[in-house]
Amino acid sequence: MNAGALPPGFEFGTATAAYQIEGAVDVDGRGPCVWDGFLETRGHRGDHGRIAADHYHRWAEDVALLRDLGAHSYRLSASWSRVLPDGLTPNSAGLGFYDRLVDALLAGGVTPALTLYHMDLPAAVQVRGGWAHRETAERFGEYAQLLANRLGDRVKRWFTVNEPLYEAWLGYYEGAFPPAVVDADQAVAALHHLLLAHGLGYQALKERCGDFEVGPAIGFAPTKPATDHPGDAHLADLVAAHTNWASLDPIVLGTYPDAFRNHPMRASALDKVVRDGDLETIAGTDFLGINYYFPRTVLGLERASDTAVVAQYGMQDPSNVAQLAHLRQLGAVDVRPQADAHRIAGWAPYPAGLTESIVQLTERYGAVPILVTENGLPLVDYTNPEGVVVDQERIDFIGDHLSAIAEAVERGADVRAYYHWSLIDNLEWLNGYEHRFGLVHVDFATQRRTPKKSFHWYAQVIRESRSR
Ligand code: BGC
Repeated sequence: MNAGALPPGFEFGTATAAYQIEGAVDVDGRGPCVWDGFLETRGHRGDHGRIAADHYHRWAEDVALLRDLGAHSYRLSASWSRVLPDGLTPNSAGLGFYDRLVDALLAGGVTPALTLYHMDLPAAVQVRGGWAHRETAERFGEYAQLLANRLGDRVKRWFTVNEPLYEAWLGYYEGAFPPAVVDADQAVAALHHLLLAHGLGYQALKERCGDFEVGPAIGFAPTKPATDHPGDAHLADLVAAHTNWASLDPIVLGTYPDAFRNHPMRASALDKVVRDGDLETIAGTDFLGINYYFPRTVLGLERASDTAVVAQYGMQDPSNVAQLAHLRQLGAVDVRPQADAHRIAGWAPYPAGLTESIVQLTERYGAVPILVTENGLPLVDYTNPEGVVVDQERIDFIGDHLSAIAEAVERGADVRAYYHWSLIDNLEWLNGYEHRFGLVHVDFATQRRTPKKSFHWYAQVIRESRSR
């Protein structure tokens, strides 16, 4: 890995999200969020967020880890239901928590970069209709204003919403995430309102201070055809429009892509929710934050059981490919490598996909600053008898992805930062605690933190970058 190929001033950081690490779900006046009840019945092996990595109580230790790492920047998220437990009334204890955290980060030389919303809607806002309703975007604008006023003297980089498109489809059509609705029109409404929330949040933050750097964190997967069948090429473009570009074009260009806006399965749902002036409100960003994990490989549904295709992708059971209902609705499936004991299905590293993502974004939108807001690898890490976690696979993974960024920079992209997902092992939503993403191992029984080999390696990369 050649970190020297990254531009001067390139920032190295890590990312987390409130619900995945904080725990303390009923402490100091925090109100319930949609995941609290949801995971009580749907958590993987019963895993839930009640304690998580207990970051709410151990934040000082975690800030010390960031300081030891030498991170330039730390992408954290605030819990909306800790700040506004009933969706409306500020909770001074919750605000105080983020105050202390931000102060400690700054004192440790780590720049805080705050995500306002990372999938943890207050239950009180969900009860009033959640993202399927426009009012939620308006509530979000008020929440953004509150945090801008409270933390804006110290926090200068802000992320509005995290992965709006995935949240909309997983929560409102796949039935996988809360509120587990299965209704394509509601999913489209949810996406539109999440994007509107971005726009309202952007406006509230920029009103507080024009110099704030504000943008979204968008899940991006470069999308390719699975075979050279012309139908797959067409479908790959269609799926890219309905996934990647449907959440980015409105923010950058102020329009939905035609292939999405006019699609017979989307047009009437959009007609119902898009009001005059919405796209002007949504359009606005200072950078593009992208979360990259793995690419998408698109296959026509009718070819999913072809023996040759099944053999090419090593699928013993063709039903493994047809998981995502919102792609199936378009006649497509996403072909993914199967899970093994060590890996969650689909999580096969493909670093070139990060170069492809950044290059595609730069080609489509011109010289827009790009921040890699998430990238990481789930592994079943363990501490060996010497108390060490040897996660060489993660070291290779980070090195290869940093090289992939350097390659995109060489090809003309303006990439400013890399936030590794994640600082510490945490609750991986529906996958619970089994697979670990952290640079720091967390023993969830004792909450003991042990920096993994990757932590020490990444610290060295950062040290070298500082001395360049
Ligand atoms: C999300 C994180 C999640 C990570 C790994 C992203 O989709 O923003 O919350 O833990 O991916 O799945």
